[in-house]
Amino acid sequence: MMTLFIESKDNDIKDRWNPATSMMTPATDEIHLWCAHVNLPRIWLDYFRKVLSEDETLRAGRFVRSEDYNRFIVSRGLLRYILGRYLNTPPGDIRFEYNPFGKPECADTHHENPLCFNVSHSGDRVLYGISNQRHIGVDIEKICFMENQDEIVNRFFSQQEIEDYKRLPESLRREAFFNCWTRKESYIKSWGKGMSIELNTFSVSVRSNMTEESILLNDTDGRSEHHMTIRSIPSVDGYVGAVAVEGKNLTYRFWNWEFPMS
Ligand SMILES: CC(C)(COP(=O)(O)OP(=O)(O)OC[C@H]1O[C@@H](n2cnc3c(N)ncnc32)[C@H](O)[C@@H]1OP(=O)(O)O)[C@@H](O)C(=O)NCCC(=O)NCCS
Repeated sequence: MMTLFIESKDNDIKDRWNPATSMMTPATDEIHLWCAHVNLPRIWLDYFRKVLSEDETLRAGRFVRSEDYNRFIVSRGLLRYILGRYLNTPPGDIRFEYNPFGKPECADTHHENPLCFNVSHSGDRVLYGISNQRHIGVDIEKICFMENQDEIVNRFFSQQEIEDYKRLPESLRREAFFNCWTRKESYIKSWGKGMSIELNTFSVSVRSNMTEESILLNDTDGRSEHHMTIRSIPSVDGYVGAVAVEGKNLTYRFWNWEFPMS
């Protein structure tokens, strides 16, 4: 099956969505990010359905809405396809294990496998982050109007984030909200402990166009001593995203995954 890798037209920050020629295991200081659409022609849905495991097929069958069903099939199927290319393993042979909080990882059966990954989906996009033995978390959110935005800020953001958010003019607050949300979520997901990490025990910048060094402002629980980095992904139409990863001074590579439409 042919796959196309398309260069992004993003110019907002120095990193761009790039063309790719091969899928090599990332170097230890390299982070790979993949972004894809989940609304695909039937042929792809049928292909991905066939590579899912029994438990994944059961899980898919529990979705009531067809768009949720399709989104799960494509995002999980494509995850298998991408990991399979890195591991040189057929997508259907990939085995996952789950930590006690539900974070999927490659099972030990993939010998000497150094890959860590994380997945996020929102709207019709899915984002994958892949590292070489580094804890990683990703989050993507479709920017939308939220009636209770200020209420969520007051409830979930840290004191510093609340103050920074409220200092911004109204016109910048929606973007600030999604910046903060995705950065916090990616950080939580990198630790893989779900909501057992309290959201107000660390602060991130709410501003756009930040450098990675200045996004994680502090972590009062001392987790930042592990030298975590949080950064935004290049812009995707109508979406905001972030990646949190263990380490500093890393190199990020971004790819769009585009499917032939027939
Ligand atoms: C998994 C979790 C951490 C994020 O879920 P989400 O934002 O709804 O969904 P996303 O699309 O970003 O991520 C889902 C993917 O994360 C992965 N995942 C599941 N559990 C995970 C965990 N404990 N840690 C990291 N990743 C996890 C899975 O691959 C999952 O994909 P799948 O459903 O296809 O298997 C969720 O359990 C959660 O608790 N979210 C917190 C919500 C919140 O209040 N955020 C406030 C931010 S200010």
